[in-house]
Amino acid sequence: MKFHLKTYGCQMNVSDSDIVRSILLADDNNNNDKIEMDADILLTNTCAIRENAESKVWNRLLQLRRADTNNPIKIDGKQKNNNNSNQKKKKKKKHNKRIIGVLGCMAERLKEDMFKDGTADLIVGPDAYRDLPRLISALAPNDDDDDDDDEIQSLSMLEQAINVELSFDETYADIKPIRSNPNDVTAFVSVMRGCNNMCSYCVVPFTRGRERSRGMDSIVNEARILYEENNVKEICLLGQNVNSYHDRNGNSNNYKMKYKEGYNISNDGFSNMFRLRGGAGYYFVDLVEAVSDISPELRVRFTSPHPKDYPPELLSLMAERNNVCNHLHMPAQSGSSTVLERMRRGYTREAYIDLIDDVRTIIPDVAITSDFITGFCGETEEEHQQTLSLMEYVQYDQAFMFAYSMRGKTHAHRSMVDDVPEEIKSRRLQEIINIFRTNVQDRNIKEEVGKLRLVLVEGESRRSKEGSRQWRGRTDQNKSIVFPIPTNIELKAGDYAVVLVDEARGHTLKGKLLWRATMQGFNELGLGHHHNQSSDSNNLTIPSLLLNAMAAKL
Ligand code: 5AD
Ligand code: SF4
Repeated sequence: MKFHLKTYGCQMNVSDSDIVRSILLADDNNNNDKIEMDADILLTNTCAIRENAESKVWNRLLQLRRADTNNPIKIDGKQKNNNNSNQKKKKKKKHNKRIIGVLGCMAERLKEDMFKDGTADLIVGPDAYRDLPRLISALAPNDDDDDDDDEIQSLSMLEQAINVELSFDETYADIKPIRSNPNDVTAFVSVMRGCNNMCSYCVVPFTRGRERSRGMDSIVNEARILYEENNVKEICLLGQNVNSYHDRNGNSNNYKMKYKEGYNISNDGFSNMFRLRGGAGYYFVDLVEAVSDISPELRVRFTSPHPKDYPPELLSLMAERNNVCNHLHMPAQSGSSTVLERMRRGYTREAYIDLIDDVRTIIPDVAITSDFITGFCGETEEEHQQTLSLMEYVQYDQAFMFAYSMRGKTHAHRSMVDDVPEEIKSRRLQEIINIFRTNVQDRNIKEEVGKLRLVLVEGESRRSKEGSRQWRGRTDQNKSIVFPIPTNIELKAGDYAVVLVDEARGHTLKGKLLWRATMQGFNELGLGHHHNQSSDSNNLTIPSLLLNAMAAKL
């Protein structure tokens, strides 16, 4: 049967879809179809983080079901003629529709409720994907038989199938993900799942279950194969709380191990909501080190971290290693200690600021990004002002900002009131968006324009057109940059390029390609992590000398 898979939500979902694709394709009965209308099984991988994420999915499901009723398709993929229906086949026709399946966080949160109004036939939570082939065949037994048998078969068919079991140990470690764009030069590698933090606004612990980490060997092997065999130049280590990674079975014979038993794994002023931490094994810093050891030409990033798990060893590793990107996501959520307390984030504004100061000292050229929620339960105008002032202080390089949306099952849902009116939430949201935009523009003009950046070329820019073709890529700091494709320098996706930044528009940079490079070459010239490039063009620093030399050569 042909399946079609659409993914909503975060990068974890994109990565889970790669697992689902692999599981379904391993089952000989299935093949993947990019065209929705041609598929027999329509799968939607869903997000439950905010109400509007869920509304999008409900709309899609209704649309799919409507399209289905108007255009029934036989389960084996042959189009059924609408006008040809007769009384005898009425019962069968009920099954001659496509299977509409809901995967992921919404499936887990709403369980059987997702069957409401006949919108879905199949509901599978994030830890139950291995069960997909069985569930699908329960809904649609192989019906290559003739019409007479169909009637009997339809009786044994299930009308609905569900598995929303969460697991303590499922990491899909042995399943080789099938990426939707196998030519991409960047790839995500899943390292852990679930969340133990229990922030009071967040549904994720309920949709994705407890934290569990994948064994380090299998992660390093997957990353090595991507680098060595699939032209991948950048690996992003992925997990809901990626930096609380802990492979308890880790054995120091294979890799270096930084943490010893009883080691303090969090920073001062940050508490772990979940007490069962510590002990032997590999921690996140060990993992980053092992993946960055694969090759000095492989870039390593990670997402999505929690600020509580940035121990000094991790920060120094990031500063030391040229191939570990200088970008830290530090989701603050709020700048007010009282809101942070209600959110159960485990830190105060002061502890957060101390950590930011440390990070900037240890990794001078670092980009810092964050997530923010406005209008959380009881948020006063003063508390909101504290968020604005934190943003002013930190000068974020990127921020993801949301209006609070109350979710069932969470601590806030049980014990607080969603009392900030919608119009105030959106006004505050607009204010933080504005302050972020103004600051990032200023910051990029000050910190980026005039600098030489090592860019990993990802492909042609979406704006690229005949006559003015442009490459797009990202800098070490994870900033998008576009630059014209020159005729005299050969370049392809997956190459590193030295680009002179000459313009900043919001958080997208523009530049001019100087030369194709290797990461090591760039660093040997002293242009990498440790070198403080001056952005003052009157000041003849090494980069500007180099630049003049290169400009003459072009
Ligand atoms: N309402 C609004 N935003 C939320 N986030 C998580 N839960 C909620 C919610 N209930 C935001 C947080 C998180 C990001 C992924 O989504 O900022 O870091
Ligand atoms: Fe959405 Fe969170 Fe689930 Fe990702 S883990 S899909 S952000 S609810």
